[in-house]
Amino acid sequence: MERTPLLAGNWKMFTTVAEATELARAIAVEPVPPGRQVMVAPSAPALNAVGAVLRATPIALSAQNICWEERGAFTGEISPLLLKEAGATMAIVGHSERRHLFAESNALINKRLRGALRFEIIPLLCIGETMAEREDNATEEVLEKQLRQGLAGVTLKSGHQIIIAYEPVWAIGTGRTASAAQAQKAHAFCRSLLGDIFDKGIAQQIRILYGGSVNPATIAEIMAQADIDGALVGGAALKADSFLSIIHYKTL
Ligand code: PGA
Repeated sequence: MERTPLLAGNWKMFTTVAEATELARAIAVEPVPPGRQVMVAPSAPALNAVGAVLRATPIALSAQNICWEERGAFTGEISPLLLKEAGATMAIVGHSERRHLFAESNALINKRLRGALRFEIIPLLCIGETMAEREDNATEEVLEKQLRQGLAGVTLKSGHQIIIAYEPVWAIGTGRTASAAQAQKAHAFCRSLLGDIFDKGIAQQIRILYGGSVNPATIAEIMAQADIDGALVGGAALKADSFLSIIHYKTL
């Protein structure tokens, strides 16, 4: 079954509005290669400006987080209504920085994910083990817990409604990419679990991205793995040149 490769840039808290706009413009000048999809996720205050740049392009706009309510007393949160106004069609939920620096639990992440679905925003659920968990042989146990609890109570009509990103915490921002074989093994495990949570047909449609120090030198081998359907890129997405070479990776 065909899963369109998604090359996604997570700009985290690295850009000002002016820098984000500039970066979006520089990425948007190149056509998106046929059969691929591109997404960028700027900080919330830059969503409107970047959304305006991307409006006439096929590049998708994503938020880095999302609240499950559209209005109310939720200081510091981002309403799905505002995301829609900015033109965002996706929202990252459960990024490891949210989990580890801001103590977001699987239960909270599940609320965010279900909120996104209610507003027809595609949630991009990030999961991944720490180095200590990998060394303890607990990788699959951790991924299973994050997937089952993150997706609790969710029913899907199609696997296109959600995206998963496997991002081993030890590979994020460290320059240490998981080997293609390590990543493939984790992705295959996640897909079979998704088959159990939903059904096999839906699991075949769900895109599972790899994230963690992806760069122009590693992307082709990562994308050559059977269960890897794209990349969530942090550092290497902050310069137009390197993100463009990731977008235009050569199929092996
Ligand atoms: P990195 O970040 O590419 O800088 O490792 C990836 C991510 O956090 O999504």
